[in-house]
Parts: sequence; structure tokens; C-alpha cells
Amino acid sequence: MIRLETERLILRGWEERDIAPFAAMNADARVMEYFPSVLTLEESGVSVERAQERVAQVGFHFQPIEEKTSGRFAGFVGLTQVAFDAPFAPAVEVGWRLPMACWGKGYASEAAVAWLDYAFGTLGLEEVVSFTAEANQRSRAVMSRIGMTQDTDGSFLHPALAADHPLALHVLYRISQSTFTTT
Ligand SMILES: CC(C)(COP(=O)(O)OP(=O)(O)OC[C@H]1O[C@@H](n2cnc3c(N)ncnc32)[C@H](O)[C@@H]1OP(=O)(O)O)[C@@H](O)C(=O)NCCC(=O)NCCS
Repeated sequence: MIRLETERLILRGWEERDIAPFAAMNADARVMEYFPSVLTLEESGVSVERAQERVAQVGFHFQPIEEKTSGRFAGFVGLTQVAFDAPFAPAVEVGWRLPMACWGKGYASEAAVAWLDYAFGTLGLEEVVSFTAEANQRSRAVMSRIGMTQDTDGSFLHPALAADHPLALHVLYRISQSTFTTT
């Protein structure tokens, strides 16, 4: 299990106590605005199990972030292998989801930079990607804030959604090891 620390956050493995706050976050329609639906408690529980399995199999996946001062669950940030066919795959994605109470503090960017450092420094990856529904400006702002650049030729229709779904069109951002280490 990977454990990283930033100035304000602990990035750690999934624990039983994460399920309730994780499920509450996934049940919030404002957090899930750019996903097809909110998740039930059961779906969130399955999602934590899958995350634990992915860590066991691959060595890394999206992991919880914990606020150092309070010990509270502050969402998840992490790396995962892109799990669908795409012109940019195989690739490793950096991703994030925080409860609304934790927005506007810089936590997503702080944790994402630590994960990029891990991706390039420890895993030795040459590139990390990120993608989101075109309208998700907050997520796109995180991508820009951490030094990622939009690949304007890389926009794609997410295969999990019908082509005419309003969230289908996704934008693609990339960052290379050389860009990360020189910024
Ligand atoms: C995407 C998401 C993680 C972005 O959260 P966020 O809080 O906007 O992003 P950050 O954690 O990087 O914080 C940046 C904000 O904190 C502010 N901030 C406050 N204190 C700060 C500090 N010490 N350091 C850095 N930024 C700080 C910044 O000014 C910025 O605010 P602004 O948006 O008003 O300019 C969040 O909106 C979310 O979880 N959305 C739902 C899930 C989702 O869409 N995930 C992505 C799917 S691909």
C-alpha cells in the first residue's frame, strides 16, 4: 500500500472507515454533476473493494486523502491504468474526487502533484494523462494548475457513455516526465 505525505494531507490506502464518507460524497449530486449518476451505498462499497483489488494487482490506484489537522476523509486522488480502449492507451491517468466541503482549498492539486512525483520519480513513467467531461471546468483547472497541457487533438467520446450523451465528449490533458521535473 502506498503512503505519501504532503504539507496538509496524508495519501494512504483504503480502510473500512472510508466507506461511509466515500459513499456520502458519491451520493452528492453536486459532486457527481459530470458523472452519469450518483452512487448508492452498495455501489460505493463495491468501488472500494475494486480499488483495493487494483492496488493489490497493479500496485497503485485512486487512494483516499486525509486532512492532517482533522484526520477526516477528504476524497480520493491517485493514479490508475486507463481501463478502456483509446488512442492514448495504454496510459496511466491521474484523477480526483473530493467532497464539496473540501473544495477551494487546493487539496486536489496538492495531492495530484505528490502522485505525479510518485509516477515520474518512483514508477519511472514517461507520461501521465488526465481526462474529464468537456464542461467540467473545475477538474480542467486542476489539470492546468498542476502543469498538464490539453491535447486538443485528443478529445474523445467516452466509451462508457452513449455517443449522444451530454457528458460523452471528454477532453484529454497530458504531462511528461521532462515537463514535470523542470517545473
Ligand atoms: C475537481 C475537483 C477535485 C476540484 O476541486 P478544487 O477545490 O476546485 O481544486 P483544488 O483542490 O486544486 O483547489 C483549487 C482551489 O482552491 C483555492 N485555494 C485555497 N487555498 C489554497 C491553497 N492553499 N493552495 C492552493 N489553492 C488554494 C484555489 O484558489 C482554487 O480556488 P478557485 O477554484 O476558486 O480558483 C472538485 O471540484 C471535485 O471533486 N469535483 C467533483 C469530482 C470530479 O469532477 N472529478 C473529476 C472527474 S474527471
